[in-house]
Amino acid sequence: MRIKTGIEGFDGLVEGGLIKGRQYLLSGSPGSGKTTFGVQFLSTGALFDEPGAYIALSESIETIVEDMSRYNFKVRELIDKKKLFFLDIGPNKNYGEYNDIWTVITPEHEQRATESPEAAAPSPESVFKSVETLVKHTGVKRLVIDSLSAIRFTAHNPAQEERSISKFIRNLKTLECTTILLSELTKPDSYTIEQFASHGVIFLHNFMDNNDRMTRALQIIKMRGTKHDCDMRTLEFTPRGIRVGNPVRA
Ligand SMILES: Nc1ncnc2c1ncn2[C@@H]1O[C@H](COP(=O)(O)OP(=O)(O)OP(=O)(O)O)[C@@H](O)[C@H]1O
Ligand SMILES: [Mg+2]
Repeated sequence: MRIKTGIEGFDGLVEGGLIKGRQYLLSGSPGSGKTTFGVQFLSTGALFDEPGAYIALSESIETIVEDMSRYNFKVRELIDKKKLFFLDIGPNKNYGEYNDIWTVITPEHEQRATESPEAAAPSPESVFKSVETLVKHTGVKRLVIDSLSAIRFTAHNPAQEERSISKFIRNLKTLECTTILLSELTKPDSYTIEQFASHGVIFLHNFMDNNDRMTRALQIIKMRGTKHDCDMRTLEFTPRGIRVGNPVRA
């Protein structure tokens, strides 16, 4: 079954939408639109009776809610109706203002706050536990995790770290939510374990063109079980959110 992201111009590029219950990676440079894409996807679901949750690890939920309220995603209304949840489980925890789920969650990394910022970053186990509790208590069907880059996948060697990342993604699958994992796009030309482990990979680009004009673009890199578009396409921000347009001309 395909579920609509609600991103204008996107669903038609992937046979009508994302396959339900799978994990997707949305990777992009700073300010490329990851959060906007994520909240638009959740808001679309919530409006069609598929509640969703945004798991914030890098930024405070107040800031995200404030910024996303500029678009007509009906964010605050959906939060009030308990169709949209924002959970802050980053090192500078400050959650509970938009829902009461925090009372049932005690993130393991909380005790680490006095240690180095790196140590305070939550472990994959702690993030998974918090997300699992949230899903059980709220019945959300869509998830956005912001971001994979903010989880402490520390291990003794790279192979172990890779196993830890793919285990985290496999664990998320058991929650049966359609999930978008946000991540920083540091090297668009090299492949990472999270790209292999996810069912689909989308890149958001944000770069200067030959005329020194900012170009925003979206590209679908992989979409298992789907005949998908491969072009790098223009991306625009409108009051309705993100809109994907025509292929970028070289
Ligand atoms: N109301 C608006 N209308 C149009 N464009 C906007 C508006 N608000 C923000 N933007 C654009 O969206 C960008 C931020 O988008 P977003 O927060 O989704 O990106 P991001 O990839 O999540 O960024 P980060 O890497 O910092 O988390 C801003 O840098 C700005 O260019
Ligand atoms: Mg963001």
